Amino acid sequence: MQPVSGAALELGGQCDSTTVMVFTIKGGRVVDPANGCDAVGDVHVDGERVADRPGGATEAAVIDAAGLIVCPGLIDMHVHLREPGGEHKETIETGTQAAAAGGFATVACMPNTSPVMDSVETIQLVRQRAKEAGYATVLPIAAITVGRGGRDVVDMASLCDAGAVAFSDDGDGVEDDDVMLEAFRLAAQLDAVIIQHCEYKALSAGGVMHAGEVADRLGLPGLDPRSEEAMIERDIRLVRETGARYHIAHVSTAKAVELVRRAKAEGLPVTTEVCPHHLLLTHEACANRDPNTKMHPPLRSAADVEACLTGLADGSIDCIATDHAPHAAEEKSRGFLKAPPGIVGLETSLALAIEAVVASGRLSWADLIQRMCHRPAEILGLPSPSLGAGQRADITLIDPELQWEIDPAGMHSRSRNMPFAGWRVTGKAVATVVGGQLVYLDAAQSSRACGLISRLN
Ligand code: DOR
Repeated sequence: MQPVSGAALELGGQCDSTTVMVFTIKGGRVVDPANGCDAVGDVHVDGERVADRPGGATEAAVIDAAGLIVCPGLIDMHVHLREPGGEHKETIETGTQAAAAGGFATVACMPNTSPVMDSVETIQLVRQRAKEAGYATVLPIAAITVGRGGRDVVDMASLCDAGAVAFSDDGDGVEDDDVMLEAFRLAAQLDAVIIQHCEYKALSAGGVMHAGEVADRLGLPGLDPRSEEAMIERDIRLVRETGARYHIAHVSTAKAVELVRRAKAEGLPVTTEVCPHHLLLTHEACANRDPNTKMHPPLRSAADVEACLTGLADGSIDCIATDHAPHAAEEKSRGFLKAPPGIVGLETSLALAIEAVVASGRLSWADLIQRMCHRPAEILGLPSPSLGAGQRADITLIDPELQWEIDPAGMHSRSRNMPFAGWRVTGKAVATVVGGQLVYLDAAQSSRACGLISRLN
């Protein structure tokens, strides 16, 4: 075994690397819901694929996974990578490094970039940069309307051909009924999914936090929950009319969860996601006016949090997504009123989700993995994640017992805006494999992958 130095190994290699890796992840608890598997076993990787036996010609390297959970690579269907145009906040390289360190093999990135991802050229640019610099697979989400202006629907067919995996004006909702109807009709023809940021600005304008007793106490303008709920109601009517696949971004209110529950009961193709922060924090977290507690939609009431937890457990909420929204320290230091909304989430999502739903007994490990991997894949129309032989080797290794303190300074993201600094959490991704490449290995875990590490270097 080679002596290994952590820092150099933490990010093992880029996922488009051509080095063919042959290795075995040995003796982990393999949680592979697609194959009905939750048992101790080995997972063999040969090149890009999972193999049914240890590699032949090459001497296989071994990652000792005893005590670790081994599952298909996690998928975050809602992140902001900021490139092009917002590289002072994040780049595709730093954002995917953060993804890998959080256990995510795949991320879908939002189009509120500069220029906006509303053209074939921008989609191609993002895909190219991800290929050059990415530590995770990057799936671009194109805008619904040109320039995210809310008026003219984009050329969805050519954007799908260019590789857009969904459509969203995230950061803004599409308010105009006729525009939204046209978008749904086009999406239905293409079987594309629309991801809506549900917010009527007329109802939320000027609001910086949830409208309620905390906003009143602080004298801060409130953001009316009806701005989210009314758009969901309108959209569900349009889904009924068009049959389009509709996904609600970052659901946050009890009524919104109930609307989704009813739409599903009606058989409509409606899905939704929840962010870890909406499962763990209420608007009380804004009491000290920390701009790191400001995001859209805002932190809401305890009843809303409870409804999100219940919705996630009963399947009304399909999946967990971070809404990873990096902002520079200077931007976040402008005070609660002026700071841009959003928090980073890629590197804390798993631990926070474990705390919110596994530690509390609401979900099993297999259920959590489905909500952080299989459901996002289904919604985005990706192949069903699996560790079966022949499948693409996207794999996450999780230490379920590892206790650690969230320290923004230690993160890979270019931005550090998060309200969880100093939290003691349990459970962490310790290695991430993308297409057979070990793209992340927690420095403290390096002894678990001795043979493999020396090869990567
Ligand atoms: O808080 C948010 N920040 N919510 C969004 O929908 C957009 C995001 C951003 O891009 O900063």
